[in-house]
Amino acid sequence: MQLLKALSFTTLSVLFSLMFIGGYVSASGVGLTCPDWPLCPQGLVPHQDFIIEYFHRSVAATTGLLVITTMAFTIKSKVAPRGMKIASIIAAGAVIGQVTLGAIVIVERLHSLLVTGHLGLGIVLFSMMLMTVIYAYRIDYSKSTKATTPPQKLKHNEDIRE
Ligand code: HEM
Repeated sequence: MQLLKALSFTTLSVLFSLMFIGGYVSASGVGLTCPDWPLCPQGLVPHQDFIIEYFHRSVAATTGLLVITTMAFTIKSKVAPRGMKIASIIAAGAVIGQVTLGAIVIVERLHSLLVTGHLGLGIVLFSMMLMTVIYAYRIDYSKSTKATTPPQKLKHNEDIRE
């Protein structure tokens, strides 16, 4: 299932961008421009006053869906090795933890330990997604094709003798 390669790699790329944006949110000191949770002051409508933090949250929501979708496809796959399934399950757990921690970071007004934990859990999440991608690229997909292709019908008795 080549879909696993594309899905896991897309997820990793979006996650990388999210961590980049998170670093920018932190370094530019705009972490509390959306002081509420889960929505920003104008609900779903973006505004230039909090556009960076709005972007961080929107990309986080997309990343969460992608990580969980990758896990679902990995678990369903017949060719995915055990290690890949475990890595994708840990990644899904980490993304749920990360979104929850993101909310606590806001509620606790950027407590330094929580922000550090947010960075640490982000690294765990990235590592697990990277492992999932590496596994996805090492799978021998021809095995799954052989398993699903029905055997060819013999046309003539001669074929049997051959
Ligand atoms: C998959 C989900 C997420 C990932 C991978 C992620 C990742 C990151 C990273 C890497 C940073 C930079 C940390 C640092 O430089 O110390 C950051 C900052 C931040 N994140 Fe997230 N984040 C996620 C979700 C969220 C969510 C849902 C919120 C909720 C509001 C949030 C709120 C914040 C805030 C406020 C900061 C800036 C903290 C500061 O000002 O120092 N994050 N994020």
